[in-house]
Amino acid sequence: MKLAEVKKVAVIGAGDMGHGIAQLALMAGYPVNLCDIKDEFVARGEERILASLDKLASKGKVDPEKVAAIKNGMITKFTDIGQAVADVDYAIEVVPEVEQIKLTTLKAISDGIREDAVIATNTSTMSITDLSAAIKNPGRFVGIHYFNPPVLMKLVEVVNGGNTDPETLQFAIDYVNLLGKVLVVAKKDRPGFIANRIAAPTIVYNGLQLDVDGREPEDIDISLLKTGMKMGPMELADYSRIDVMSACQDYYHEHLDPEYGPSKAAKALLDKGLVGKKTGQGYYKWDQPGRPQLDESKWTGTYDPDIFYFIEANEATKLYEEGVCSLEECDTAMQYGYNTAGPIGYIKKFEPEYVAKKLQEVSDKYGYKIFAPTETIKTGAYR
Ligand SMILES: NC(=O)c1ccc[n+]([C@@H]2O[C@H](COP(=O)([O-])OP(=O)(O)OC[C@H]3O[C@@H](n4cnc5c(N)ncnc54)[C@H](O)[C@@H]3O)[C@@H](O)[C@H]2O)c1
Repeated sequence: MKLAEVKKVAVIGAGDMGHGIAQLALMAGYPVNLCDIKDEFVARGEERILASLDKLASKGKVDPEKVAAIKNGMITKFTDIGQAVADVDYAIEVVPEVEQIKLTTLKAISDGIREDAVIATNTSTMSITDLSAAIKNPGRFVGIHYFNPPVLMKLVEVVNGGNTDPETLQFAIDYVNLLGKVLVVAKKDRPGFIANRIAAPTIVYNGLQLDVDGREPEDIDISLLKTGMKMGPMELADYSRIDVMSACQDYYHEHLDPEYGPSKAAKALLDKGLVGKKTGQGYYKWDQPGRPQLDESKWTGTYDPDIFYFIEANEATKLYEEGVCSLEECDTAMQYGYNTAGPIGYIKKFEPEYVAKKLQEVSDKYGYKIFAPTETIKTGAYR
């Protein structure tokens, strides 16, 4: 399937990500079949799309005529996957990050859609190759991974699954380019792909800061905000939902290395049903409008922000060594997917021996081999 052949798109799952992904397709001019399990969920997805389009139009960021055209019949709502995909040329699943739900949904898409249509998944972590087991003709299956919120975040990762054929990969690249997004391509299918994988060991490290060192979340975030980061990782966890992040960590724990699992601090919050902004509390209280106020008195000045970037950069070099992507793409992924400094660019101002020594110290202190420096770090080959 070539992008030029696409006349209509289906988005399966109209939640936080799905409605934004559908909105991007609509803004690119495609009619969208929007599907969720209940009428009220799909209606809520449509409402969110229309509210966002009105807001963008009022700011002059979208042509009001385009918004009028979208309102005038470009969205069709479904609760049956077979019906939603029957007349489309491309479908993406955006259902919850639970393997069995993904597999059942993908099978229903595959059963109902034309045999040469492209099928994508927005999974944050799962193996595209494993998920392709649910698809007839798995060569037409690919990962297209958006960041939250999809309309505003510039990065999209395209993931080449073990069975993805080159034409499908090219389709995904062309589609993301058409949306005007910043694109990175994971040439190999590894858990977490690029940006989430680079962030994964820092989530473990910050968890150890809470569990082992008794550090406060504010102390970590304030230290990193002082480096120019726009949102600290603990606040980001609350914003992205601690349950979603822990599910990703569970997946890494199982498929990458047990050391990537969630912290005791995260599990304690989840046991109390506190997942962050959505429930009014996570690492922070979200009881006021806007972002939480960080209590400066909690800042000790003992959290070294350089270590955070060394850990990210070290993970980036693992992706490079595994042939997933270039080091430049790693930096692009973090800049546009997480709005932080590119870690490779960040560590270039330090001597490789120093970076390697600090990483080894962290690895030794906590007894975690995932922090140990790679050959690319030790030899300074990233410079
Ligand atoms: N939230 C994020 O920050 C984020 C970022 C990137 C990727 N993702 C990924 O996007 C996917 C969706 O996440 P989300 O945050 O939008 O979740 P969400 O819970 O907001 O939305 C999922 C939607 O799927 C619907 N759904 C469930 N089963 C369905 C089915 N069989 N058919 C149709 N709809 C069904 C649910 O009712 C819900 O509305 C996950 O794979 C997640 O990992 C999430």
